[in-house]
Amino acid sequence: MTAAIRGSVVTFKKNPFFNPADECIVYEQDAMIVMQDGLITAVGSADQVLPDLSADCRIERYDHALIMPGFIDCHVHYPQTEIIGACGKQLIDWLNKYTFTAEQKFRDASYAREAARVFLRECLRAGTTSASVFCTVFAQSVDTFFEASARLNMRNIAGKVLMDRNAPIGLIETPRSGYDATKKLIERWHGCGRQLYAVTPRFAPTSSPEQMEMTGAVWQEHPGTYLQSHLSENTEEVEWVGRAYPERHGYLDVYAYYGQLGPRSIYGHGIHLSDAEFRKLHDTGTALAHCPTSNLFLGSGLFDFHHAMNSARPVRVGLATDLGAGTSFSQLVTMNEAYKVAQMSGYSLSAAQAFYLATLGAAQALYLDDKVGSIAVGKEADLIVLDLKATPILEYRMQYADDLDEALFILMTLGDDRAVRATFIAGEKVYWTESAPCTEQFAPALAEASL
Ligand code: GUN
Ligand code: ZN
Repeated sequence: MTAAIRGSVVTFKKNPFFNPADECIVYEQDAMIVMQDGLITAVGSADQVLPDLSADCRIERYDHALIMPGFIDCHVHYPQTEIIGACGKQLIDWLNKYTFTAEQKFRDASYAREAARVFLRECLRAGTTSASVFCTVFAQSVDTFFEASARLNMRNIAGKVLMDRNAPIGLIETPRSGYDATKKLIERWHGCGRQLYAVTPRFAPTSSPEQMEMTGAVWQEHPGTYLQSHLSENTEEVEWVGRAYPERHGYLDVYAYYGQLGPRSIYGHGIHLSDAEFRKLHDTGTALAHCPTSNLFLGSGLFDFHHAMNSARPVRVGLATDLGAGTSFSQLVTMNEAYKVAQMSGYSLSAAQAFYLATLGAAQALYLDDKVGSIAVGKEADLIVLDLKATPILEYRMQYADDLDEALFILMTLGDDRAVRATFIAGEKVYWTESAPCTEQFAPALAEASL
């Protein structure tokens, strides 16, 4: 079955942190994207693409909208959906008071199943088509997540959290049982359809040296899998790591020593990092997930774009919500907060840079840019349609946008999940708003045949 969507398309082909925006953004005002068997099979101006469409191709046309690659959330905790906006103090108190309590409920598979359903529904409503997801220590919370993700045919990364100390007794296990369970889950889920596995040590303080050793080993034994964790989010946490691993030279060195850096490893936050640590991230191809709403909510600190995007040693960075410390599923809201965080350190994030961080930049951080994150022939057809008239104020403000750059900036400043008019996963429309349906069209050949 072939399907096509028509409208204005925005996607990226280069990194706007290091190249002029007009060399990075691809914009086609009246474009057509053709999708077959989950992939994009043609994209270009409608004039060019229309004549070659097969007679049975259904076309949906979206006016007053931008069609983009689906957003990618580089770091998020699905079991924390129920604690978003829990009023706490900073990281360690918040973890002890809310997070560990909530995560213990995921021993129950039916509880986890319902949470995974709600979480993925919210992702699709927010236009997020892929995410790198922390589950809990319970293997069943990973199974239920992947089952729901596979049913939707989403390309998601997820993994079982590993902890063997400094957490409630109900959430810790031995290094051996964590290793064995991870191995089984990798065999069950990594590469099953679009599902990808991430070995998931929560963070250095909740793993003993023995567990860190086995975690690095299980990741190295399974090439192609991911590794996700947290790094230098909060100053108290950084000091704690110093006490827990006195023989190591700083937080990042703990992960380096235990073989947990390299392509397909991604760390949330990275706020309190030294120059040498940024260089190490660059040299090893390790990525950072920037989580601005979480960093503001927990008062963790301000991500430093000047350092991360140093052209002499750039680090791969993707945008992330980090729910439930993060306060919104929407990557538009997250971009808005990323802009403000950057402003606080004198870095003015452009709209192109912000959208890049949630699409192609995120895909590059996750080494998935050959599959998702942009709109091009051969890429998986994960697409979103953003409505430029989604709310009265967006509609009003957009009248005064002089160019695409301004329209994108307004969208990230005023937009949220209400701006998402439709979400496509592997070419299938899985979410759309009733209030703003598209106009349906038929391919010229079919329209002629029915005359
Ligand atoms: N560090 C360790 N665990 C967590 C978590 O669940 N959320 C955040 N924001 N930081 C963490
Ligand atoms: Zn996190």
